[in-house]
This record gives sequence, C-alpha cells and structure tokens, in this order.
Amino acid sequence: MSTVNANLTYNYKVVRQFAIMTLVWGIAGMGMGVLIASQLVWPAMNLDMPWTHFGRLRPLHTNLVIFGFGGSALFATSYYVVQRTCQARLISDSLAAFTFWGWQAIMVAAIITLPQGLTSSKEYAELEWPIDIAIAVVWVSYALVFFGTVMKRSSQHIYVANWFYGGFIITVAILHIGNNLALPAGAFKSYSAYAGVTDAMMQWWWGHNAVGFFLTAGFLGMMYYFVPKQANRPIYSYRLSIVHFWALIATYVWAGGHHLHYSALPDWAQTAGMVMSLILLAPSWGGMINGMMTLSGAWHKLRTDPILRFLVVSLSFYGMSTFEGPMMAIKTVNALSHNTDWTIGHVHSGALGWVAMISIGAIYHLVPKLWGLPSMYSVGLINVHFWLATIGTVLYIVAMWVNGIMQGLMWRAVNEDGTLTYSFVESLEASYPGYFVRFIGGAIFLTGMLVMAYNTYMTVRQKDAVAQDNAVAQAA
Ligand code: HEM
Ligand code: HEM
Repeated sequence: MSTVNANLTYNYKVVRQFAIMTLVWGIAGMGMGVLIASQLVWPAMNLDMPWTHFGRLRPLHTNLVIFGFGGSALFATSYYVVQRTCQARLISDSLAAFTFWGWQAIMVAAIITLPQGLTSSKEYAELEWPIDIAIAVVWVSYALVFFGTVMKRSSQHIYVANWFYGGFIITVAILHIGNNLALPAGAFKSYSAYAGVTDAMMQWWWGHNAVGFFLTAGFLGMMYYFVPKQANRPIYSYRLSIVHFWALIATYVWAGGHHLHYSALPDWAQTAGMVMSLILLAPSWGGMINGMMTLSGAWHKLRTDPILRFLVVSLSFYGMSTFEGPMMAIKTVNALSHNTDWTIGHVHSGALGWVAMISIGAIYHLVPKLWGLPSMYSVGLINVHFWLATIGTVLYIVAMWVNGIMQGLMWRAVNEDGTLTYSFVESLEASYPGYFVRFIGGAIFLTGMLVMAYNTYMTVRQKDAVAQDNAVAQAA
C-alpha cells in the first residue's frame, strides 16, 4: 500500500498479486508453447498419451498465454492505472480480491479440463459452460470494480488509458456471453445455441474481437499510460488518442468476416470483413504513431533504458502485425495464407512482439513501484531479457513466414495435366527446418521470461531485506 497524499491510499495488493501471476502464467503458457512446438519437430514428444497430445495441449497453450498471462497483465495494469489516474482507491477491496481468486480458479479449471479433452471446440472459447458462467461472473465483478472506481474519481478528467481499458472490459463481456450461449447436455458437455454458418460467424465475431479487444484495446490502454510515464513525456497528441479510440472500436467489430473467406458465409459479409480490415489499418497506425512520437526529444533514453526499449519495440511489432493483418484480409492474399504457418507467424508477431513485450515493459515499470523500491534488482538483466525476447520473436516469425509462403505455394502448384505437383506430406517435410527454428526462437523467448522471474524475485527479496534491516535498526 502506498500513499499519494495524507488521505488517499491505493490498493496495490491486488496489483502485486496479478503482476506475479502474469509471470507465473507467462512461464507456464510459453513453456507449453515450447512443448507443442517441439511436438511438431519430434512427434515422440506427444508422449503417446491422450492428455499430452498436441490437439489437447494447443488450446491449453492459447488459454494460458491469452487469458492467464495477458489477462493477468491487463488486470494488474488496469487496476493500477485506474487508481493513479482517477486519484481514487479501488471501489471495493473484497470485490477486487474476488476477481483475483476467481480468475486464478478459472485458469486452474482450464488446466484440469482441457487436457481431458473437455472442450466446446470454439477457438479461444474452448472452456465448457460451467467455467463460462464463472468467467461471466468474474468479468462483471471486474467491470464493477473498474467503473465504480472511475465513478468515484477525484480527478475531473477520465484519462484516455481508462477509455481503452473500459472499452475492452465492456466488449469482452458482450462477446463472451454472446458467443458462448449454449444448451448444456451434462456437466461438461454443451451444444452451441447457433447452427451452421451462423455459429461460424458468431465464433469469428468473438475470435477476431478477442484479438481486437482482449489482445489490442486493453494493451493500448497500457501503452497510453506506461509509454509516457517511462519516457517522462506527455502523450504526443491527446486529440489523436481520442480519435484513435473511437475509430478503433467502431471498425474492429466489423472485421471478423476475414476469418471466413471462401466459406459458406455470404459473399457480401466476407467482403465487408475484408474492407473493414483494410480501413482498420488507419486507426491502428494512428495509435502506433501516437505512441512512437511520444518519444520525440527522448529517443536518446533508448540507449540506457531497456524498459523503454521493450515498450517501443512492442509498438513496432504492433505496427507490423496491423499492417500484415489487413494484407492477409484481402481475399486473394488470404487464398495463399489461410491454413498455413503464415497465420501462425502473424499471430505471434502480435502475441510475442506486441502483447508480451508491452506487458513485460509495463511489469518492469511496475514492480519497483509496487514494492516501494527505487529500481529493479538488475537493469543489466532487463537488457539481457530484451535481447532474448527480440531475437526469440524474430526467429519465430521469420521461420513461420518462410514456412507459410512455401506451404501456400506448394499446395497450389499444379502440373501441366492439372494434377498437384506436391503431396501434402512433401510440404510437411519441407516445413521441418522452420519448425525447428521456431522451437529454438520460442525456447529463447522463454529463457528471457525465466530471467525476468529471477530479476523480480531478487527485487522483491531486496524489499524484504530492507524491511528486516529497518526492524533490526528499530530494535537497536
Ligand atoms: C489491423 C489489425 C489486424 C487485422 C486486419 C488482422 C487480420 C487477420 C487475418 C486476415 C487473419 C487470418 C485469418 C485466416 O486466414 O484464417 C488473422 C489471424 C489472426 N490474427 Fe490478426 N489481424 C490484425 C491484427 C492482429 C493482432 C495485433 C494480433 C495479436 C495481438 C492478431 C492476432 C491474430 C490471431 C490470434 C489470428 C489467428 C486466428 C485463428 O485462426 O485462430 N491479429 N488476422
Ligand atoms: C515461447 C513462446 C511461444 C511459443 C513457443 C509458442 C508456440 C506456439 C505453437 C507451436 C502454436 C501452434 C501452432 C500450430 O498449430 O501450428 C501456437 C499457437 C498459438 N499461440 Fe503461441 N507460442 C508462444 C507464445 C505465445 C503468446 C505469448 C501468445 C499470446 C499472447 C500466443 C498465442 C497463440 C495463439 C493465439 C495460437 C493459435 C494460433 C492460430 O490458431 O492461428 N503464443 N503457439
């Protein structure tokens, strides 16, 4: 707990708890990523058991990284930012604690059910209906804590970061409830309330907006607070940030159709998805430029501040993946990229380069503040982490780009007589070097996370040591 003025204390306990769990789920989820990456290189790594098979561990990976790692980083930073910028303590400590323990319980439920094959089979919404209900309850509590705190603010203005966090919280609630409506057929079995192509459309309305709101809008909230703070500069253009907010939320929700190109979805809906995706480039880049330009006059700080480097490089990856996404949404490009490793490369340039890097930068900024210390235990180790994360990400995505384009071209190559030039197995064989490089890149990224965990542990221990010294000094 820390004091800003004589009368105001913030609830940092829940922020500390979520910050620690960001690391725990980050390591678990990325460890799972490295394991499934190894299974694609060495099939024996499936261990010949149903629970450890790629098909069951892949959704566990996505749930742990998106909801465990990304979710905890969003809870931690939003609870911190809303208190600091509204100059108000969280509206309820017990409800905030409920969101913490509830979210952890949901992650544990994912670890128990997914390896058993208990799944609704909707991507990023695999968890079965009782867990979905728990998610809805925790999420509504989160909304109450967040908006309740905004309402009792002592500052007149609502800082733009809160708009992004708020937009993310409301939209995820609507999407989660809308997409998961289902008829239970047992404790862990349900049937979607939608049928056929409507089901597919609902799923990708959720799926794409899980990207747009869970993996983007909330993290943009993070950007608008932590980039100016770490650079010690005001945001480049406050007006642009407001335009950015409205343009982004108004466009994202229409773009999900690009996941269903050349499917049974009506053609006009596919084209609408494509066009809205192309338009989405503008708000995405507007936001990225706003973040980048905040460093005007402070670029020299990048030489000495690895935390700022994490934040700025994350923005570069954000810019890159939001350029690539609209290109992949063009039907003719998608005809080549769909179902290939190109998509996986795009996903991870967003997930590792943008989501993970900005979260890592924000957590490094937060940890000393939350434990009342001047800085992290070792700035040198943050620098080591920065390079491991950057090299790991680049190896991962370059390997997947090469694989993806090669697969797309091999699958469509035809001989003069109209027969296929390559069999599927030949394209798989050609993909092995890329899978190996991805495994190495992932392992390097994971090593960086372990370095971060060590650095954080040593920082927090420092705090204990200071407290002990004080106690001894007082006793003497
Ligand atoms: C302007 C922004 C973006 C657009 C227009 C866009 C567009 C696309 C397109 C066209 C696909 C391929 C769909 C397919 O062929 O099945 C895709 C896949 C995906 N993108 Fe993006 N993308 C954007 C930004 C991002 C960002 C920033 C992230 C991550 C943080 C991300 C995460 C994903 C994921 C997870 C998938 C895979 C979905 C799946 O099939 O499971 N995207 N995106
Ligand atoms: C050490 C880091 C990581 C490694 C080694 C890794 C590895 C993998 C692998 C092997 C897959 C399956 C690809 C396939 O089916 O062909 C995958 C899928 C996925 N991963 Fe990761 N991952 C890592 C980190 C992350 C992070 C941090 C996130 C999100 C924040 C993430 C989000 C995803 C998503 C959304 C998919 C599904 C993509 C799709 O369906 O198109 N990953 N990952």
